[in-house]
Amino acid sequence: MNIQFSNKSLNDSTSRLIIIKSLDQLNQIGNIQSDVDYLKSSLKENKLTESFLNGKLEAFVLSTETSNKNLEVLRGIGYQAYKSLQKLEVANLHIENLADNDNSLALFEGIALSAYQFLKYKTKKDGYALNALSINGAEEKSYKHTVAKIEGTYITRTLVNEHPAYLTPTQFSKDIDALANQYGFCFTKLDRGQIESLKMGGLLAVNQASNEDPTFNIMEWKPAKPKNSQPIVLVGKGVVYDTGGLSLKPTTNAMDFMKADMAGAGAVVGAICAIAKAQLDVHVIGLIAATDNKIGSKAYSPGDVITMYDGTTVEVLNTDAEGRLTLADAISYGNKYEPELIVDIATLTGAAARAIGTEGSVIMGTAEEKTLNHLKAAGHIVHERLVEFPLWDEYGDQIKSDMADIKNLGGDMGGAITAGKFLEHFTRTPWIHIDIAAPSYLHHEDKYRGKNGTGVGVRLFFEWLANY
Ligand code: BES
Ligand code: ZN
Ligand code: ZN
Repeated sequence: MNIQFSNKSLNDSTSRLIIIKSLDQLNQIGNIQSDVDYLKSSLKENKLTESFLNGKLEAFVLSTETSNKNLEVLRGIGYQAYKSLQKLEVANLHIENLADNDNSLALFEGIALSAYQFLKYKTKKDGYALNALSINGAEEKSYKHTVAKIEGTYITRTLVNEHPAYLTPTQFSKDIDALANQYGFCFTKLDRGQIESLKMGGLLAVNQASNEDPTFNIMEWKPAKPKNSQPIVLVGKGVVYDTGGLSLKPTTNAMDFMKADMAGAGAVVGAICAIAKAQLDVHVIGLIAATDNKIGSKAYSPGDVITMYDGTTVEVLNTDAEGRLTLADAISYGNKYEPELIVDIATLTGAAARAIGTEGSVIMGTAEEKTLNHLKAAGHIVHERLVEFPLWDEYGDQIKSDMADIKNLGGDMGGAITAGKFLEHFTRTPWIHIDIAAPSYLHHEDKYRGKNGTGVGVRLFFEWLANY
């Protein structure tokens, strides 16, 4: 996946997409190949139509307003434009921006995100690919931020799309290490021995039946003068494959895509790459407890009582509720940084997926309302919308255990929340939990989000921290 992005036109043979704010600007352009009357009528609808994407591509979008809704419309237009580029096999596209900067960047983003492909395992890579995408007249910082978000999203999508025989916890750590070198953030890996000395009982229990050692991954971006005095800790669920363990999942529509159970971890990695690339002035730490959840004679069993990193005892009643065990240890580890805030992001529950589907993510937390609102606002800007669920005390009753401090399974209802209550138990600082079970991986193409790994969370975290 190698698209060249630029904020100037790259060469003469590049097809052009011209963005205007008003029809008066049409005479600034000159040499219009398209039919102006047609253009005027289509402009009203704020969409591109292929009929004027002729030969050397020239098209126009009337960007009117800067509302979040319109930004999303423009990303959608970017997707339509990409479909036309694909049909016409346009290799290089330049966006001639004569209008509003942020709006044209939303279009740029929509095209770029639609152009993502994962071809590593195709033996014939002879299909269409966009080689270069450029734009002029965009404000420098906004342009850089847009490219950072796109690159971060690509990184996450690729990590999620990788197959489980490749992306073992050890390989995951190697990939993060390579990205740390490329983007300039710090990376430390803890291996099995260190994880055992630290007594990360949740991570080790889930890993018990595995042939692959777990890893604990620590990323840090610390700029010279960060806005926050205490770090923000991002924790990602890094279950590289979830069979369900002895509480085995069925294959079809369940286990068959559980390579994506590290999408939260992927989002943390992609977000930190983007943050480092854009040199955001926030101090961020990323934590990932990585393992698969397999079956075998050594597997942890429903009925086991395990001791977590923070000393809490947990009665395991379902080995498929493994994410909360690995996350809880990572959250407890995060407490030692005395962070301003911990945000975890995880493909945690089918219940969250059933509740709101792929159109958004479920959040809950103990952070101040103001903090939650900032994150929600970022979600609206990047169209990764967040729906808050409650953490009322009564839900906590569902995870009380007869024989241990708590159990890893709630009742039949409110499963997204009881999972959240479990995590809450391990927090010592303000905290937000994001359940991305549904939007992290799509089984059908959805506009610029594409098919398979979406990279959800990257643009959200970036947008939120860029305005922190
Ligand atoms: N990884 C799954 C959650 C999931 C489901 C992610 C669908 C993406 C799509 C998680 O580990 C899991 O299996 N959760 C169980 C918890 C239950 C046993 C309490 C679930 O949601 O069914
Ligand atoms: Zn599971
Ligand atoms: Zn899982």
